[in-house]
Amino acid sequence: MATISSDKDEPLIADQLRADPRVCEAKKLILAAMEEKKRSITGVRPPVKELKQSYEEALKVFGTQRGGKLFFPYIGSGIGNGALVELADGSIKYDFISGIGVHFFGHSDLELAAAALDAALSDTIMQGNLQQNTDAVALVNLFIRISGFDHCFLCSSGAIANENALKLMLQKKYPAHRILAFERNFIGRTLALSQITDKPAYREGLPLNLPIDYVPYFDPKHPEESIQHAVTVLKKHLHRYPKQHALMCVELVQGEAGAYPGSREFFIEIMTLLKENNIAIFDDEVQTFARTHQLFAYQHFDLKEYIDVVTVGKLSQICATLYTKELTPRTGLLSQTFTSSTAAIHAAATILNKLRESDLYGENGRIANTHRYFADKLQKLSELMPDKIRGPFGIGAMIAFTAYDGSHEKTLELIHRLFDAGVMSFNAGANPTRLRFLLPVPVMTYQDIDQVVEILQKALT
Ligand SMILES: Cc1ncc(COP(=O)(O)O)c(C=O)c1O
Repeated sequence: MATISSDKDEPLIADQLRADPRVCEAKKLILAAMEEKKRSITGVRPPVKELKQSYEEALKVFGTQRGGKLFFPYIGSGIGNGALVELADGSIKYDFISGIGVHFFGHSDLELAAAALDAALSDTIMQGNLQQNTDAVALVNLFIRISGFDHCFLCSSGAIANENALKLMLQKKYPAHRILAFERNFIGRTLALSQITDKPAYREGLPLNLPIDYVPYFDPKHPEESIQHAVTVLKKHLHRYPKQHALMCVELVQGEAGAYPGSREFFIEIMTLLKENNIAIFDDEVQTFARTHQLFAYQHFDLKEYIDVVTVGKLSQICATLYTKELTPRTGLLSQTFTSSTAAIHAAATILNKLRESDLYGENGRIANTHRYFADKLQKLSELMPDKIRGPFGIGAMIAFTAYDGSHEKTLELIHRLFDAGVMSFNAGANPTRLRFLLPVPVMTYQDIDQVVEILQKALT
């Protein structure tokens, strides 16, 4: 990044505030208190009896006021310790779903708390397109350096990052306007995205105005046949609507569908055909970013040269649309009041640096090793009780299994039984529905996995 500096002796007033000894001491004291309190959270604990009634009442009122019951009876107290979190009813649970992939560094991470304290010193809570501070400028530069893309546009939700990506590609490819997507994909729930997400229930009652053509996804049980089948279907769409497709949406690992990784060979066949037909390739990494054996899933599958746009979100705290210079939009296409909160901008920069400096990546990195350990435990459990658990599936920090017959109802029952026993998970996909974990790998240990598997075994029986 071009740094903003001069030979002038006197630092800017903002730098003087950040370096003020009172600020530094206050920060130190706050973090020390946090560290001390979080250390008292050491394992799963049931709710406190005396809090039960008021907790249930609060849940009921909250459910009514927000217009729908919560999936879990979860109201956090505001503290945790790594993979463990305290709820407002006094219970402590393993958070192995991390807010559906958001809290990769677990609960009460001190470096993230320090980033939020730094953000609190800033002049504004939110930053927007009209007025951005040096921290937003540095973050955009960091995203560009780690991704190798030419441009980065920040926003505060995965769905908006995806909307922005679609707009870039549709504007550039006009008058081509059809969209290709994989069957069982999940891309978000705005009016446009719920038309692409391959789940009819998510678009019930909504007007449909986008032409979408679906292509079947990779099937690891029949790799060769599934590649042939997908290519045949794609060719049919291209033949039926010549020069009308602007882009294809791709998840390199289908997350919401139930943790289905594709394969490099599969993607190369599809992507080569797309390139030959001048169709832009959009890699949605809102869920996969930083969770495979590489920082980006396109690095994991070695596909960078094919990708025109990639979006990230969830664990990065801020969301971003990263794209090539060929897709630079005309003025007015992308804008918004909020880039994000200053706290999210600081947290994102801290997270990206933590990830880059970590031992998480590579075939023997912490993510791959944690996956192997957990998968091995689940495999053994499935050998012990083959009628109750099948799998495991997934890759890296995304791991799933099919429980019982894979029915939606039985899987949900198990997820709630697990919650009561102290472990948070979530469902994914349909036919079969799977139970999935999005693991907070940097803050969890093999001992945590042992405990969770023990709780799971009891809940299954
Ligand atoms: C692959 C994928 N794309 C997009 C989204 C939408 O992100 P958000 O919920 O932040 O809008 C999600 C969220 O689950 C996702 O998993």
